[in-house]
Amino acid sequence: MSDQGSFYQRDRGWHPPALTPQYKTSVLRAPRNALLSLPGTLSEMTGPVFGHDRLGPLDNDLIRNFVHTGEPIGQRIVVYGRVLDENARPVPGALIEVWQANAGGRYRHKKDAYLAALDPNFGGCGRILTDADGRYRFRTIKPGAYPWPNGVNDWRPAHIHFSIFGHAFAQRLITQMYFEGDPMIWQCPIVSTIPDKAAIEQLVAALDRNNTVPMDALAYKFDIVLRGRRSTLFENRLEGN
Ligand SMILES: [Fe+2]
Repeated sequence: MSDQGSFYQRDRGWHPPALTPQYKTSVLRAPRNALLSLPGTLSEMTGPVFGHDRLGPLDNDLIRNFVHTGEPIGQRIVVYGRVLDENARPVPGALIEVWQANAGGRYRHKKDAYLAALDPNFGGCGRILTDADGRYRFRTIKPGAYPWPNGVNDWRPAHIHFSIFGHAFAQRLITQMYFEGDPMIWQCPIVSTIPDKAAIEQLVAALDRNNTVPMDALAYKFDIVLRGRRSTLFENRLEGN
């Protein structure tokens, strides 16, 4: 196969299994029958291709892209990194979409009824295209932790949701980024579905003092690997928690 043509199978020793009862909604979502393996088709191995003209100038700036009365409340951060393929080559032109809760842990979403207040100046959504070296960068507010209805008292650690379109539709990745040093990571029922501690650590963005913006924003580095033996793990749930 060409270098765009083949994709590795998902390694279930690295990615979480579909059925993880401590993550309650996985019980109904998990397939009950053996999976079928289908060969990739040309349309899955090429495109979609996105043009830069589809992105607005503030799409990569969640601090500014929803302002109404002023800037949002919370810790200002920069998130940056590279998107790489399974052979550690950069993936240029990949569309990254991010969404997250505000500093209080509340999403701007009609289904989110958490007590924490909405921030009138924070929308929580952004988009970025990787450059020729697979690099991306966006500014945002560090999200807060929030409770969710799973066990009696389960909380999600602070996290940012990522969706990445790589070179081909079969390289779509949906995952979550966590923050270095957060003790909530290791108490999360969703994170604990991941069998390998090294795979969890790959989802934790490192605080990078060398790329902080002095008197402005902290920086976190998060590299993403698409479809390969060491790929960033795939999250089965598309939205919400
Ligand atoms: Fe979430």
